Amino acid sequence: MIELSNVRKEFIAEDGRAHVALDGVNLRVEPGELHALIGTSGCGKTTTLRLVNRLEAPTSGVVKVGGADVRDVDPIRLRRGIGYVIQTGGLFPHWSVARNVGVLCELEEKPKDFVEARVRELLTLVGMPPDDFARRMPRELSGGQRQRVGIARALALDPAHLLLDEPFGALDPITRADLIDELRPMLDELGKTVLLVTHDLREAFALGHRVTLMDRGRVVQTGVERDFLEEPAAPFVARFVSGLGGSIR
Ligand SMILES: Nc1ncnc2c1ncn2[C@@H]1O[C@H](COP(=O)(O)OP(=O)(O)OP(=O)(O)O)[C@@H](O)[C@H]1O
Ligand SMILES: [Mg+2]
Repeated sequence: MIELSNVRKEFIAEDGRAHVALDGVNLRVEPGELHALIGTSGCGKTTTLRLVNRLEAPTSGVVKVGGADVRDVDPIRLRRGIGYVIQTGGLFPHWSVARNVGVLCELEEKPKDFVEARVRELLTLVGMPPDDFARRMPRELSGGQRQRVGIARALALDPAHLLLDEPFGALDPITRADLIDELRPMLDELGKTVLLVTHDLREAFALGHRVTLMDRGRVVQTGVERDFLEEPAAPFVARFVSGLGGSIR
């Protein structure tokens, strides 16, 4: 489970002025839930993820992962239990696909045979046959393939929690739709607790069991597609949803 209670996050700019990135955020991702976090650019989505794995600390409020306040958990141990795919993919460009996927296992000093087998298993899981892809370099992959490698790497230590920051951001709509179709059943089957950031409402509804919509550092509404369509919590929700035209169905 991932839980944010009344979280506020201020960044202090160089001129000393505080910028409020998150303001009173309450968010709960149930065990095994795929929760989509959506909102306009700059509304605080990435900041929310970074608070979950302690890359940032809240100014006030509490962040819990698996029931424990993240402040009470050693950050290295905490992050072992949380797979994180950052917004830009974040593969090491000079390492092969296999090494990128296996790096967390290597850091854990797992035996070489184990790492090799795990890498093959993970690449197969994300639809990239290891015989074709393991030895390639990231530059020899398409954008969608790179995203899959990022996801495979995040799954390496079998974390209970996954944070995915716009994992399909750079992809064309068709590749995106294909990846979403593949990813949803895979994540459901793995039973991970997933917080996934997107700014595409269609993607949020297609992937998320539930969706949270944010605006300027605040949660505006959490629910399923019907809640957003039939009972928008604020004019902003209606505007956001209507921006889709009829195309979400
Ligand atoms: N390290 C930082 N220092 C100062 N301000 C920051 C920092 N990180 C984020 N911010 C500000 O906090 C706000 C939220 O940023 P965040 O990256 O969480 O947005 P986002 O919702 O992920 O946006 P996008 O969809 O563009 O990725 C923005 O106004 C941003 O400028
Ligand atoms: Mg972001």
